[in-house]
Amino acid sequence: MTVSVTSATPTDAPELADLAALTFPLACPPEVTAADSAAFVADHLSEDAFARYLADDSKKILAARQDGNLIGYALLVFFAPSDPEVAEALRHLPAPAAELSKCYVHPGAHGTGAAASLMQAAVDTAVASGCRTLWLGVNDLNLRAQSFYRKSGFTEIGRRNFTVGGHVFRDFILALPLFPGDE
Ligand SMILES: CC(C)(COP(=O)(O)OP(=O)(O)OC[C@H]1O[C@@H](n2cnc3c(N)ncnc32)[C@H](O)[C@@H]1OP(=O)(O)O)[C@@H](O)C(=O)NCCC(=O)NCCS
Repeated sequence: MTVSVTSATPTDAPELADLAALTFPLACPPEVTAADSAAFVADHLSEDAFARYLADDSKKILAARQDGNLIGYALLVFFAPSDPEVAEALRHLPAPAAELSKCYVHPGAHGTGAAASLMQAAVDTAVASGCRTLWLGVNDLNLRAQSFYRKSGFTEIGRRNFTVGGHVFRDFILALPLFPGDE
């Protein structure tokens, strides 16, 4: 299938919010209730939230489309992490590092290579922005995402807390050096 990945624009905000509401629960462990997930989506993945991300020069959203339909998105964050556990985990990796803060594909496109296209665009965008490392957090029960990230070249560099609905999860921190000589 042909997937195009481009930088999202403000007109994409409604579609991004719809896809985020559909896909965020797929990344959640069983402790996260539907109400917890809905509250997180309302706070962080609403149309207004995406409009704010799109207006923020320190963030970049990539939109993956097939036949014009949004089937995936990724959010890159270009500022240094404030979480001390992440900062410590990244200390020995090449700087600057960008965070792949979100990477979500419509379930109908899982296993099709769409996620690989999105990841390649994220890597290309991070490199073009002068970054030397890409990092992300992933829930320890999200085995499909972990498998995808590991086959994309990421390795574990630490753990960090991630809170959803009052539950604090110990996510894995994974990282990918972006230049072969840095590995
Ligand atoms: C994470 C995501 C973008 C990956 O895209 P994808 O199309 O599913 O990825 P792929 O199919 O290319 O790779 C997933 C791999 O996990 C494997 N897999 C599937 N279920 C698995 C499981 N329960 N345990 C371990 N591996 C699993 C697949 O077989 C595949 O490996 P393979 O290509 O060697 O066969 C997508 O699954 C997604 O959007 N998930 C929901 C949202 C999410 O969790 N986002 C990440 C948040 S950190």
